[in-house]
Amino acid sequence: MGFYELFKFWAFRVDPEKIHDLTIKLTHRYPDMMAKLSGAHHNSDPRFALELNGMKFSFPVGLAAGLDKNAECISYFSQLPFGFIEVGTVTPKPQPGNARPRLFRYPEEESIRNCMGFNNRGANNLLTNLRAARTHGKPIGVNLGKNKDTPAEIAHQDYESLYQSFHLEADYLVINVSSPNTPGLRDLQAVEGLRAILQAVTAHRTNHSAPLFVKLAPDLALEDLDQMIDTVFGFPIEGLIATNTTIMPERGAGGMSGRVLLERSRRVRKHVLNRIKKDYPDKICIGVGGISSFQDLWDFWTDGGLLAQVYTAFIFQGPGLLYEMERQLVRALDVNKVASLRELIEHIDEAKFPS
Ligand SMILES: Cc1cc2nc3c(=O)[nH]c(=O)nc-3n(C[C@H](O)[C@H](O)[C@H](O)COP(=O)(O)O)c2cc1C
Repeated sequence: MGFYELFKFWAFRVDPEKIHDLTIKLTHRYPDMMAKLSGAHHNSDPRFALELNGMKFSFPVGLAAGLDKNAECISYFSQLPFGFIEVGTVTPKPQPGNARPRLFRYPEEESIRNCMGFNNRGANNLLTNLRAARTHGKPIGVNLGKNKDTPAEIAHQDYESLYQSFHLEADYLVINVSSPNTPGLRDLQAVEGLRAILQAVTAHRTNHSAPLFVKLAPDLALEDLDQMIDTVFGFPIEGLIATNTTIMPERGAGGMSGRVLLERSRRVRKHVLNRIKKDYPDKICIGVGGISSFQDLWDFWTDGGLLAQVYTAFIFQGPGLLYEMERQLVRALDVNKVASLRELIEHIDEAKFPS
């Protein structure tokens, strides 16, 4: 039994949020010891290297938002093969989030339901942690959200103040209007709400500002999605992140992530990637939602994607997920006799999946 299996054997008997908080605390205090226990090696294969929007990635898979909400564990996560790390969601003021219990596991489906509600210690705290972190050269994204008690009419002010706090500090920023756990937040995906936010935020952009992304829900009708894509790319925004968690009311409140999300998320990703290819070729779509194996990553590449993120599969599989993806990527490059990941993806339609 490896370290993570041992950890899981014990941890999955404890309340999910309690074990989450304890692990974050330990990892914050002892990042190097935890990295050693996680088997961090780590010299990434130079053939994996990618450069996009001025950012350098050593691996095409990053950590999705919501695991390290207060940026306490960057010094640990950056020692794993993650190519980039997204922290947050951060809101301007600290807030406790929704009532507990608010985190539920579905082990047989490798899925999670959460109704956390942007629990976080606020922008000042995150900024302090970000400045103190050892990033090992990995791009760090900060995911921005509004406080629960900020009325929708002035939600743009929250995003604007967060943007001003972080646009010269982070490597990229994400406008999150797609969490199902803050009442009314997803309504901001409608054109007027979104336009107000994008206007307020992009007014502060300079040549030195971090690239900006908008994170989408998987539950949008395709016509609404089209409107949203056109609205977003009417502003100087580098790309979209698809997707956040999905609502499945039959399971209870909150958002579902992991394998049960894959199909819905992939449908949205495919649509976004097709629109980008057709109308916005200089934009990118970071894929997240249900990606839990090298096969899923491969499927995302065949759909036209490049950079992906994981959250739930990392909880169930641990760092081994990344080591396995690395191993299979090396095999894929060797089997297809290509010199780099870029080249593999450019020829993905003719490429052989490594057996
Ligand atoms: C417990 C939990 C908390 C999350 N918190 C956030 C968050 O604060 N901000 C955000 O943009 N996404 C958040 N997410 C969504 C993830 O970033 C990701 O979009 C989603 O889980 C789908 O990816 P996955 O299937 O790999 O988990 C959260 C997900 C989970 C499971």
